[in-house]
Amino acid sequence: MKSRTTPRLNLLFASSEAQPLIKTGGLADVAGSLPLALSQLGHDVRLVLPAYPQAVNRAIPLTTAATLELPGYDGSVRILEGRLKDSVPLYLIDAPGLLDRPGNPYTDASGSDWRDNAQRFALFCHAIVVIALNRAGLSWRPDLVHCNDWQTGLVPALLASEDSRPASVFTIHNLAYQGVFNRTTFDQLELPNALWSHQGLEFHDNFSFIKGGLAFADWITTVSPTYAREILASALGYGLEGLLQHRSERLEGVLNGIDYSVWDPASDPAIPQHYDAATFSLKKINKLHLQREVGLPENEHALLFGHIGRLVAQKGVDLILQILPGLLRLADTQLIILGSGDPGLERFLRQECGKHPDKIATVIGYDEPLAHRIEAGCDLFLMPSRFEPCGLNQLYSLRYGTVPIVHRTGGLADTVINATPRNLLNGSATGFVFDRPDVESLWRTIDSAIDFHKRPEIWWQKLAINGMQQDYSWDRSAQHYVEIYQKAIDHPAPNPLAKRTPR
Ligand code: ADP
Ligand code: GLC
Repeated sequence: MKSRTTPRLNLLFASSEAQPLIKTGGLADVAGSLPLALSQLGHDVRLVLPAYPQAVNRAIPLTTAATLELPGYDGSVRILEGRLKDSVPLYLIDAPGLLDRPGNPYTDASGSDWRDNAQRFALFCHAIVVIALNRAGLSWRPDLVHCNDWQTGLVPALLASEDSRPASVFTIHNLAYQGVFNRTTFDQLELPNALWSHQGLEFHDNFSFIKGGLAFADWITTVSPTYAREILASALGYGLEGLLQHRSERLEGVLNGIDYSVWDPASDPAIPQHYDAATFSLKKINKLHLQREVGLPENEHALLFGHIGRLVAQKGVDLILQILPGLLRLADTQLIILGSGDPGLERFLRQECGKHPDKIATVIGYDEPLAHRIEAGCDLFLMPSRFEPCGLNQLYSLRYGTVPIVHRTGGLADTVINATPRNLLNGSATGFVFDRPDVESLWRTIDSAIDFHKRPEIWWQKLAINGMQQDYSWDRSAQHYVEIYQKAIDHPAPNPLAKRTPR
């Protein structure tokens, strides 16, 4: 249903990944579902993405909607048009030689960043700007462009100097990734010289894509209210806290939602046994299947811990590795880890798993259906992230009645309610939350979770079912975005460079 207070908006949603076309992490989940939620509110939203071969294959049928000449690229760039999930109009930017790389969108087969990422995503940004200004021949003018993460950061900066421009919103999904390159790269890209300034894209003598979003967007959002506060301080501001403080009146946290048509244990095609809050006891059938699938002993009474994620320092997987000796000493506990990323961590995990096949299963790689079965089969989900802008796995865990154990940071702090005696009594508890990202705190919390599990079964069921009943659907978040879009349209931000050139 369309919200009554806002008119129908034309929205261009720009992202470097979107599920089910291409995914490396949570940004893809967001870009694959928020546009649909916005369109269900009655807005004309269109998604723009690079035409990676994988995305093209999954988006077929496609037609060529336009052909463009863009700065910094010798050939012609095509805009391929299709639909996301048979619904939202989709534009794929096809630039042979630059954007058509197979595999991971950002890295080569060895895991190193593509050397020409600045050229690749600058071209993507130029294409978005041309569409945003209705100069691509698509006969469509967006009221607002919603940019996501550094790969789209140049868009607000390039739009700022245009007289008749759409509004812009820039969402920070993870401030740790900024798209920083050197001055030579800035020069090679032939960007307007005026952008090379402290108020512009310059960042400690380097050139920052993300500053384009942070300094020039009409409104900035990030993916949870707590992270919106955390990035104002140096620990998680990565040197951008000053700029963010300066813009804090236009910075808001909007919690991600999740797509319950994809993540619902009552209908999930990837899991062997469907269940819901009323049939919670059926969940253990998924545990038995999962144990068999990953080679752990089948034991419905074993307390099964799970972890899924990119194997990077952010996610605190090293903390999980440090509690392994403790877990191994306990009878009837098992752990399954699914992840890929840091080669050292991958190697270490493989070795540890090999030593304890009756207790730990490690699957190195990226496996979406297995991720669903882990959410369905585990009792507890470990998320000791050092920082977490929002986090989606704890939301999936809640929905699947898999009790999350999380560090109180970012979106984890905003979505998991600690099982204190008080919260248990008043019925608000949904998981276990610890305050410091260190081994002692994690272990203490795991210990209390294990103790809690020894209580009469009804206690555990109540905690898990309370999690299942939380509502993190996109609808509310999408309405919040629409309010922000309207503010951005009604109150455009002044160009930060304009006051530097008084006449
Ligand atoms: P981030 O975006 O920082 O990686 P999120 O929790 O927001 O963290 O989202 C991660 C998403 O990627 C989730 O949908 C998760 O299930 C998925 N994911 C991460 N690693 C894997 C993997 N190895 N296999 C399958 N899915 C994965
Ligand atoms: C980022 C963050 C994660 C968030 C996701 C989607 O990758 O690390 O916390 O959930 O983006 O917004």
